[in-house]
Amino acid sequence: MGILLIKNGLLVDDKATKQADLLIQDGRIASIGTNLTIPQKTESLGSTSVIDASGMLVLPGIIDAHTHYHLVSRGTVTCDGFKAGSRLAAFGGVTTVIDFADHNRGQDLLQSLQFRLNEMKDMAIDYTLHQGVYGHGYNSTIGSQLEKLKEQGIKTLKIFTTYRNTGYLIENREDLLDLFQNAKRLGMLVCAHCEFNPMIEDLSDNWKGNFSPASHALLRPAEAEGKAIELFGSIALQADCPLYVVHCSSECGLNAIRDLRKKGLKVYTETTPHYLFLDKSKLSGPDGSLYVMTPPLRDKTDNNALQQAILQGEVQVVATDHCAFTREQKLSSSDCRTIYPGIPGTEELLPLLYTFIDQNGMDIREMVKLISTNPAKIFGIYPQKGSLEVGTDADIAIFDPFQRWTLEDSNIHSASGYTPYRGFTISGKVRTTILRGNIIMDNGTYYGKPGSGRFIPQH
Ligand code: URP
Ligand code: ZN
Ligand code: ZN
Repeated sequence: MGILLIKNGLLVDDKATKQADLLIQDGRIASIGTNLTIPQKTESLGSTSVIDASGMLVLPGIIDAHTHYHLVSRGTVTCDGFKAGSRLAAFGGVTTVIDFADHNRGQDLLQSLQFRLNEMKDMAIDYTLHQGVYGHGYNSTIGSQLEKLKEQGIKTLKIFTTYRNTGYLIENREDLLDLFQNAKRLGMLVCAHCEFNPMIEDLSDNWKGNFSPASHALLRPAEAEGKAIELFGSIALQADCPLYVVHCSSECGLNAIRDLRKKGLKVYTETTPHYLFLDKSKLSGPDGSLYVMTPPLRDKTDNNALQQAILQGEVQVVATDHCAFTREQKLSSSDCRTIYPGIPGTEELLPLLYTFIDQNGMDIREMVKLISTNPAKIFGIYPQKGSLEVGTDADIAIFDPFQRWTLEDSNIHSASGYTPYRGFTISGKVRTTILRGNIIMDNGTYYGKPGSGRFIPQH
């Protein structure tokens, strides 16, 4: 394997910002210091290259902790599969994603995990998984199934408080408590999609309005998020087990999290760029279907509350919930009950976050925490991922903070053919993405190889 020397960059991790060189050997960070050179005795041992990173930020590879590449759902499949997902991720400086393994009908958790791992063989960036635990497959053997999952390097579980018709919902409080108690026993983390199902079903049963994209926001209100967080939080408290709230979308959700923290519960909060920067007015336009996801976009006041929460350090992770459908798939329905839910986002994650912290005078190290170090720590893949430490995987995003550009449908790489952030003026652009010492994207050209991504076990 070759040697790569990154010269004169500004290295930023969660702890420090320093002007230094970084030497990569055998896929790992070999040394960090000033005036580094390619070691003489290794010059003949394969390819050597030097990257001049003057004026650039050298960041740990970005981790998108919430993706749905190749998600088979509602009789179709998301348009960004494992090859396309890896490619667009590389353009965004993302070197690891945490995707999901569904709990498949007729399969136990281990079989479901194995099924997903087999599907993911074409990944060109690294990945680990959250394992779904769904109501349709919940039974008394869950505890021993979880033990086997843990042996395979899976320590994060995904549950839903909604989607009763698909069988995802675990309805019974005793089952939920049992799950949290098992998670506590095994040191696993429960990640929850929080929308209180009885409220949503009630609203839908009594709904007299139309089913336009804009109605999606009314049928799945912020109060349902708050109530579900309260419910899961009370169970987590009873089990004395932390809770990870995925894609928190509202001030109401944030307030529920604050209440739980006051009661002493450890709550990890994830939000997404769309809940930070887009609001529900997008749903009223002629292409409103393009902006339908679950939970729905909220009010500007919710955007502001979430942005403030980031600035106050109340949010631990920003991830994208990348779940992309083509424009044609999205626009094939204008009925919010049948529009395929989800939007693209992995590629836009770092540019959007950098623009936000730049505008708000926030420390770059805080951004690194939100989109690299914290997900690595919370999901058990740190310091291999999410750090710039000697001896760890050389996953790096070289970022030019001075480039200004505008997000357009034509300059992102998702097969969806659109970016929900069209027209956003962005500060900074990823110049080079390096995965375990290999350049997978440089100056707009992709070099990733399907199959070269690795599963990263959680510890
Ligand atoms: O609409 C969305 N978010 N689709 C992906 C699945 C989920 O609930 O995260
Ligand atoms: Zn969700
Ligand atoms: Zn999701």
